[in-house]
Amino acid sequence: MKVLCFGSLNIDYVYAVPHFVRRGETLSADTLQTFTGGKGLNQSIALARAGAEVWHAGAVGTDGAFLVEALNDARVQTESIETLPDVRTGHAVIQKSADGDNCILLYGGANHAVTPEQIDRTLGHFSAGDLLLAQNEISALPHLLRSAKARGLRVALNPSPMDESLPPLLALADILLLNEVEASQLLRCAPDSDPEQLLTQLRERYPDAVIVLTLGAAGALCADGGAVIRQAAIPVHAVDTTAAGDTFTGFFLAGLLEGQNTAQAMRFAAAAAAITVTAHGAAPSIPTRKKVLSSGAFCDILAE
Ligand code: RIB
Repeated sequence: MKVLCFGSLNIDYVYAVPHFVRRGETLSADTLQTFTGGKGLNQSIALARAGAEVWHAGAVGTDGAFLVEALNDARVQTESIETLPDVRTGHAVIQKSADGDNCILLYGGANHAVTPEQIDRTLGHFSAGDLLLAQNEISALPHLLRSAKARGLRVALNPSPMDESLPPLLALADILLLNEVEASQLLRCAPDSDPEQLLTQLRERYPDAVIVLTLGAAGALCADGGAVIRQAAIPVHAVDTTAAGDTFTGFFLAGLLEGQNTAQAMRFAAAAAAITVTAHGAAPSIPTRKKVLSSGAFCDILAE
């Protein structure tokens, strides 16, 4: 079985700020760093570092060659990434606060030049039983999800960023991975809604899907059939939470693919995400399988 992650590749410009810029305010950043990122790229790298064999598809401009190299370095197959001559690579402007929290502004660039034709070409290399992983940072997402389902692929969807085009597509997902902000937006609930209630509503709406609800420092919940699994987060000193959710997604799916049960995959994912937040940047902060398995974070989870 093959894993195709069809998703964004971004250049992340990370500005360290004393607080997130407010309406009408001009604010000086303390530092600027540039990292490889994009939810698609991060999740492909997380899958590969967790031990899965992954194909990444997407699009960059001529300024995005280093993003493709980063995927190659992580042993992700990159033949289905197209380099477009007249479009800039997508980028993200990320404000990072002193406590490691972030807020992200996206510019789609080449990610928004993905066409149904590129999708059809790519899906031609995959068949029934393979797994597609997608996020919401590329164009033609409805075509991607519907075509993958029509070919018999299993679909894992991280509906991020959430927008109004997504709700009708979520029913196509066999595995749904989202955070509490996205769940509240989807269900039109208050942002501080009780996570257990969010999960209950998600299960009612998508009874056939495995649903993973990540909750940051409060851990994660997973509904799989009749069972609900609760996974605590490992307490660590977070310096940058960017890509924590992407790491969780990649390690959770890689765990399932290698035969772990849902509870084991949740532990594997939580340990990996705990390490990610202790380092700066998106993709560069994603740990290897070896690092996760030998980490205190994993031992702490096993000792629970
Ligand atoms: O999930 C983190 C990612 O979101 C960043 O790398 C940024 O590029 C945006 O896609």
